[in-house]
Amino acid sequence: MTPSPFDPELFARLVEIRRDLHRHPELAFAERRTAERVGTALDELGIAHRRVAQTGVVAELPGPEGIGVVALRADLDALPVTEETGLPFASVHEGVMHACGHDGHTAMLLGAARHLADSRNFDGVVNFIFQPAEEGQGGALAMIEDRLFERFPCQAIFGMHNRPSLPVGRFAVRAGPMMAGGAFFDIDITGRGAHGARPETGVDPIMVASHVAGLLQTIVSRNVSPVDTAVLSVTQFHAGDAYNVIPQTARLSGTVRAFSRELMHLVRDNMTRIAQGVAAGMGAQATVDFRINFAPTVNDPAEAEFAAAICAELVGEAHVERDPPLIMASEDFSFMLEQVPGCYLNLGNGPASGEEGIGGCEVHNPAYDFNDAALPYGAAFFVRLVEKRLAPH
Ligand code: NI
Repeated sequence: MTPSPFDPELFARLVEIRRDLHRHPELAFAERRTAERVGTALDELGIAHRRVAQTGVVAELPGPEGIGVVALRADLDALPVTEETGLPFASVHEGVMHACGHDGHTAMLLGAARHLADSRNFDGVVNFIFQPAEEGQGGALAMIEDRLFERFPCQAIFGMHNRPSLPVGRFAVRAGPMMAGGAFFDIDITGRGAHGARPETGVDPIMVASHVAGLLQTIVSRNVSPVDTAVLSVTQFHAGDAYNVIPQTARLSGTVRAFSRELMHLVRDNMTRIAQGVAAGMGAQATVDFRINFAPTVNDPAEAEFAAAICAELVGEAHVERDPPLIMASEDFSFMLEQVPGCYLNLGNGPASGEEGIGGCEVHNPAYDFNDAALPYGAAFFVRLVEKRLAPH
């Protein structure tokens, strides 16, 4: 009989892979050993695989027949964090750590691949996507630019992230917007430098930038609809380096988060209007560089419903949160979801928020660790999803 993802032997194997990956974390686009490890695991299963975007790995597993294709995605990269867990399998790479659980995500997807390769209880094709550089370094876009979806077309795509405040054995999934899109901006104000005692001979960019910084806070309160959500934070203000010099230039930088591209564009356009209008009114010039580094993560309603039903089948309806709060953090799977309808969901990694215990530490913290107890749930979700979506006739 084919082992289920809850099979103790498969579970032990997944823990072994997960801890090996944890021990050898690698940063964005440097996931060479990790990609090798994934490739070896796929070779053992007889699943063909290719490199996409340097260190990305994509594998295709065909079922007996059928033409449907489902893609499942995990992320490979670690973070520039110094690990403080004291675990026996703690990172051996100084200053690099799997502090977001991508080691667990990769192991879960390999677990699903192993089960599906053995059982082949589906028709059509499953694409396994192991994505590099999720942590703000553009790995999803790099794969898309390397023609991921032309080389490996699919009709639906699914991805998953662990969530420490959600108990193990629970899932959270919502239709529509789920995580915010993120942009960084730089506003450069150019005035005319002058002696600090003779302001009338110059145009003070610090005064201009101060007014701009204040007025930017009217965008969310006055331009964004009160029923929508956005954040605009000015996080840097750089100008001048002498007591008696009015500088020539000033720079404001910061971040914007919102749940739709339209809203991000609305913020960008108002930011540009305010910066350029205020600067012109005060005799200066302003340029705005607004860069969207994460698209908003938006789940297709039908695919989200489908994913939630799979979760409910797996752990019971009571353990599936179907309307969790919006998340202001970002995720670059969003770019894949802009290409192919699909769903991104959260998997419980620990006790409820505030409780002590394994898996409760927040991600990106030096004490974080992926909870191995979550591995079978993640693997089983992917397996059931494929078996249901590509059910043999
Ligand atoms: Ni992450």
